[in-house]
Amino acid sequence: MKKKRKTKKAPQRVKPAVGAAYRHFGLKVDPFTTLSLQSHNLDYFVGRTALIDRLLSALFSVSNIGVAGEPGVGKSSLLQLLKGRVPKEFHCVSIGVPLDDASYFLSELLREMLVAIPSVPGLNFKEMGRRLETEDLTKNAVFSLIRAITSRLKKPLLVFVDDLEKIKGDRVQHLTRSERTLQLLEELKALLELPKVGFIMALQEEFYAKVGQVVKEGAEPTVLGLFKHMVLVEKFTQAELKLILWTRLRRAGFKGEVDDFLEPEALILALSLAGGNSRRFLYLLSEGMYRGFQRKGRRVEFQDLFEAVNEHLKLDLVCKKLLYFLAKSGRAVASNSDLQAFMGLDMISIARRLETLSKNRLAETVDVADGAKVFALPGSREAAPEETLRPSPRVIQTASGEKLFNLAQDNKDGEDR
Ligand SMILES: Nc1ncnc2c1ncn2[C@@H]1O[C@H](COP(=O)(O)OP(=O)(O)OP(=O)(O)O)[C@@H](O)[C@H]1O
Ligand SMILES: [Mg+2]
Repeated sequence: MKKKRKTKKAPQRVKPAVGAAYRHFGLKVDPFTTLSLQSHNLDYFVGRTALIDRLLSALFSVSNIGVAGEPGVGKSSLLQLLKGRVPKEFHCVSIGVPLDDASYFLSELLREMLVAIPSVPGLNFKEMGRRLETEDLTKNAVFSLIRAITSRLKKPLLVFVDDLEKIKGDRVQHLTRSERTLQLLEELKALLELPKVGFIMALQEEFYAKVGQVVKEGAEPTVLGLFKHMVLVEKFTQAELKLILWTRLRRAGFKGEVDDFLEPEALILALSLAGGNSRRFLYLLSEGMYRGFQRKGRRVEFQDLFEAVNEHLKLDLVCKKLLYFLAKSGRAVASNSDLQAFMGLDMISIARRLETLSKNRLAETVDVADGAKVFALPGSREAAPEETLRPSPRVIQTASGEKLFNLAQDNKDGEDR
């Protein structure tokens, strides 16, 4: 038997001790993966119940749907979840298309259709596959093959298109990202019009407003008129982000309370800097956990989060202490004597540091009281009404419907801190 050749170890690109980091805190898996949720970890999925119901009924009516949202807010994960809920009465394919190239789009779609759809009487899928891989088919030729298949399908076809929102702008032609995307969609108009085929596409956030504009101004409907539904994937509330953290800790085998894993002030900082974006939230927690592990801490502390945030900012320790004060107290005014005593600094030094935090988007002015600026962590103005005005206990649940979470209780916890 031939001896196996020793392969050279690939250079490690990820942090070598990321596994050691979560194990250090008693977790069985990395809870803070920033990758989109896939079928194996969809039980991490939190919230969006109403949106999911709305999208599913839109999908089942086989219409075109745009799913718009800022990067990292959970579009891909939402598409994955929806795909898992498609019943057998539909054919279903997924493609990821980060390029503004109609030929590439069509070829990817045909390739996936040939794999996902069982053979169709009168069509030779093998031959189609061979032509696709070996011949230089034109865009129209590929489209004809797709049309030939879809026209013979007994069940409707649902096509999940992800990453279209990653299309880049074109500097030479002075086109923005969404203009380039729109051009691509125009090129694909005939495809989007195919009967018995519904597309659901992740799109850039601005498409949500664009469609609203078309409707409002009664403008000549562009290809966007082919989208029966355009939804905005909203940012998460702070309560939902907390539930994301809680769910992940539980799934990773953490038995204690959230506070046993993460200092409350660190959580407040992460929630505030995440601004409702799940990827940013998870990234901050992951970085904080890594630093907590390097420090050999018992739990992830405020200082770990601060160091993660401060890696490129290089702010001084006074700023760190001030930020901690903001996380703990919610508000800071340089003239406040308690703050001056806590910091051991005079008003002018504190005011200067508050401005530094503000310039680095770690704080913002939320009010002016007696001529003095009142600072708070970013986003606290948006968070405040939700925290204080929510009238009655409300529950939200994970997509699996498994875990109920009382927001009102949660908010009360927040206020107590
Ligand atoms: N509903 C959810 N519940 C829990 N975690 C989520 C949820 N949605 C997204 N996440 C997490 O947030 C992060 C970003 O999600 P995702 O990749 O789906 O966002 P996206 O909008 O597709 O991002 P991009 O614009 O970069 O493609 C991932 O780590 C994912 O696990
Ligand atoms: Mg995505």
